[in-house]
Amino acid sequence: MKNTDPEEKTKYNLLQLENKVCVITGAASIRSIGYGTAELFAAHGAKLVILDLAMNDQIAQDLINHIETQIGKKIEIICLQCDIRNTIECENAIQNAVSHFSTIDCLVNCAGIVKSEGMLSITEADYDLIMDVNLKGTFNICKSVLKVFAEKQSGVIVNLASLAGQRGGGLVGGSHYAASKGGVISLTRSIAREFASMNIRANVICPAMIETPMLDGLNQEQLDNVIAGIPLKRVGKTSELAGACLFLSSDLSGFVTGATIDVNGGIHIH
Ligand SMILES: NC(=O)c1ccc[n+]([C@@H]2O[C@H](COP(=O)([O-])OP(=O)(O)OC[C@H]3O[C@@H](n4cnc5c(N)ncnc54)[C@H](O)[C@@H]3O)[C@@H](O)[C@H]2O)c1
Repeated sequence: MKNTDPEEKTKYNLLQLENKVCVITGAASIRSIGYGTAELFAAHGAKLVILDLAMNDQIAQDLINHIETQIGKKIEIICLQCDIRNTIECENAIQNAVSHFSTIDCLVNCAGIVKSEGMLSITEADYDLIMDVNLKGTFNICKSVLKVFAEKQSGVIVNLASLAGQRGGGLVGGSHYAASKGGVISLTRSIAREFASMNIRANVICPAMIETPMLDGLNQEQLDNVIAGIPLKRVGKTSELAGACLFLSSDLSGFVTGATIDVNGGIHIH
């Protein structure tokens, strides 16, 4: 018998983010985790706000063309140049997003940088740069978006930390990178605790060895050595990381907050 109950039709909506306005930082490169997340979110009906330091008109057009080709439909999207280190740029970008789409439902923070160097080689400038982008930048954009979420008493944040922040030192990044990502884990838990009573959720993903430009610094021998230590015996795809972001950004994870989700092929089972 055909189901005509409208409630039943929406119960198993396969578009997990239909009409949800999702801000994604760090998605300028087609090979990035941010891009993979933007593509999957668009496929699930999201309206996108892409923020990236490297954004320009050409990159924006390429990104839109790529997503629309991949998912086979037109998307609603704005792409803005934004340096998340700068509080005013974050505030302006979020205000632009709200002016354009009227609201924001979800924030996924993928913007980040990595540098591989031993503790004793890390200069003050290196330390400040890594901390400013990865930790202060994440704090800045979360703060701007949380003002919108607090006003409407709902919202979801997904932050990208790293295996480096869990185990002390990365497969790629140095101790400054690991410390910045440890900070992102702690920041996310604090947001989850402080804003839970406002129906705002925050969770953090700790990826390792996802095939993006971030791994370009490894030569083949280094890559092979790392893969040998990964139980699944391969690197991860951006689409697989995007899947975790989709789960945490949608109602599928409605009772999950303050969680740390590993997407690492089993390299850190704890
Ligand atoms: N790829 C991995 O294996 C891996 C592992 C652990 C953690 N991560 C984390 O996942 C996130 C995404 O990584 P990725 O591999 O896609 O990186 P990526 O280098 O491909 O993309 C990062 C993006 O962030 C942007 N960005 C850098 N500084 C910025 C700033 N100040 N303001 C705004 N945008 C800025 C860059 O322009 C770039 O588009 C990062 O936070 C990274 O630390 C990745």
